Amino acid sequence: MAAPDLDTLTSLAKRRGFVFPSSEIYGGFASTWDYGPLGAELIRNVKEAWWRRVVHARDDVVGLNASILMHPRIWDVSGHVEHFQDPLVECPACRRRYRADDTPDLRCPHCGEELTEPRMFNTMFKTFVGPVEDEAAVAYLRPETAQSTYVNFKQVFDTARVRVPFGIAQIGKVFRNEITTGNFIFRSREFEQMELQYFVRPGEDDAAHEAWVEARFAWWRELGLDERRLRLRPHRPEELAHYAKATIDVEYEFPFGWGELEGVANRTDFDLRRHAQASGADLSFFDDAARQHVTPYVIEPAAGVDRAALAFLADAYRVQDVRGKPRVFLSLDPQLAPFKVAVFPLARNRAPLVELAARIAADLRRRWPVFYDATGSIGRRYARQDEAGTPFGVTVDFDSLEDQTVTVRERDSMAQTRVAADALPEYFAARLAW
Ligand code: GAP
Repeated sequence: MAAPDLDTLTSLAKRRGFVFPSSEIYGGFASTWDYGPLGAELIRNVKEAWWRRVVHARDDVVGLNASILMHPRIWDVSGHVEHFQDPLVECPACRRRYRADDTPDLRCPHCGEELTEPRMFNTMFKTFVGPVEDEAAVAYLRPETAQSTYVNFKQVFDTARVRVPFGIAQIGKVFRNEITTGNFIFRSREFEQMELQYFVRPGEDDAAHEAWVEARFAWWRELGLDERRLRLRPHRPEELAHYAKATIDVEYEFPFGWGELEGVANRTDFDLRRHAQASGADLSFFDDAARQHVTPYVIEPAAGVDRAALAFLADAYRVQDVRGKPRVFLSLDPQLAPFKVAVFPLARNRAPLVELAARIAADLRRRWPVFYDATGSIGRRYARQDEAGTPFGVTVDFDSLEDQTVTVRERDSMAQTRVAADALPEYFAARLAW
């Protein structure tokens, strides 16, 4: 199945209410996006699937939900004030700006002019806390969740009854004043991360790094991404972040080419050691075997929620020829699908049909998100749910009133089965289990 182009995907996402351009009634606001009713469900499901796998399915990972604004010294100590910058080049003719590494021939891709010499541009968003806008009030919007995890290391260690090796997971918004954005929700200035900081003994870091790369790669595959569009790519020494000893990216072949979904880094003891020195806090643990205090090494799998949503949407996109007409559907894993079941009374002007369908919908809604749709032709109602990725449709027809059975239609195969109405919760429980 060929991948859809980005315009096709963007227009489906907008038409069905997955993703809208932000501030659209004001003409939009560059590279910012809003998740509509289906998108809000999709990204919740992505985050829940990640949290289930990384936190709840393990006995060695706990969660954290820290604030976005933090003490500004943190970003000095972490090296972000000094290093979190991109080389910016400008076209003297058209004033367009690019990242120097996107324009290797130093010519403007738009008008061909020679670009200016690169100058470094810090991509952290700066703001001011309180009513006075001066240097003393500067704060940053966090560009990664990781630092807020490191500065809470001691608090978690002292309260959560954890022992090294263990991890602290966090999902949250981050902000980067990217020089260039684009490719729909792939690169924007405000996005969400799902990051794990996994603390290990020095010397056990390489094996833990390898194990996390494998575990994270498997997660993407198990949630349905086509293996042929997934690959691992180790960073070259010159592209490693200032804190990393080694990083391996999980990449996906997006409609515009290969791009990073997740980076799995070995951050050594770089961050904890620097925060311990600067704050005076003890960010070590007592290693019984070594009989000494040790600063743990950190393995960090860091994934983007928005890129995950884009990859899952692109990968699930299918067009099928049905009697000479294209049928578009999203073959999303049921775990990720915004709605799990759609319920349709065949006719909306027959009270007993509508009552039975509404009762079925209300009953299923106690366990799953259900979409109820009583209007339009049944074909169009199916088509709408196919494009929304809803894995099952339940149609209540005239026979249902006689024999209390309904038709269940599967999204991908379009196979239809008669199921007793009161057996539906059990029927779906067997098929919507994860
Ligand atoms: N704490 C490590 C860290 O932040 P990163 O590779 O810079 O690592 C992690 O970011 C993930 O965040 C990336 O793999 C990507 O999925 C996502 N990401 C990074 N920049 C992004 C952007 N501008 N827009 C959307 N997602 C982004």
